[in-house]
Amino acid sequence: MLRICLATSNEHKLREVRAVGGEFGVVVEQCPAPKIEIQSESIEEIVLKSAMLAYFYLNKPVLVEDAGLYINALGGFPGPYSSYVYKTIGLNGVLKLLREIPDRRACFKSAVALVLGDVLLTATGEVCGYIANEPRGTKGFGFDPIFIPNGETRTFGEMELEEKNKYSHRAIAVRRVLQKLLSLRSY
Ligand code: IMP
Repeated sequence: MLRICLATSNEHKLREVRAVGGEFGVVVEQCPAPKIEIQSESIEEIVLKSAMLAYFYLNKPVLVEDAGLYINALGGFPGPYSSYVYKTIGLNGVLKLLREIPDRRACFKSAVALVLGDVLLTATGEVCGYIANEPRGTKGFGFDPIFIPNGETRTFGEMELEEKNKYSHRAIAVRRVLQKLLSLRSY
């Protein structure tokens, strides 16, 4: 059985990634995330540097994920600054920025990097949809209560984990990286 650890302190991310790991027969454990994160406008670059640091620090197979919410009408803001924006102005602050703006389109993007010895695998995932008019639902985390994926009327905050994982940026990115890993191991 293949075991990898996810460098995160976010229990929600862990549960989501663990469920995707289960689809591939991969056991996902939690490992401490080093607190250093470089500043960059690219989540792909952030995750690559974080993964190298995490591997250096842990010396075992490690998966690192970084995500952000990109709002069309705000030129992609908050993007890589999503965590800071969530902590500072929060959901209501974002809703205020969008007040009277009819274009509610937004995408969540996720970048993952998996380091196993001298192998480095990366992938990205994206889900697009729109920002709700008010927060709905208590499930999930972060911006889940205000994000509605295309084809749905409910926010991620109103969905069970399995439903969110059908659409989510993170589930897509993790599936892609595990597919790459398993195709490597079949040679
Ligand atoms: P992180 O740096 O990958 O932890 O993500 C940055 C921020 O984006 C988080 O603090 C959340 O506010 C938000 N975020 C990332 N992924 C999700 C998600 O799946 N649902 C809701 N918010 C998310």
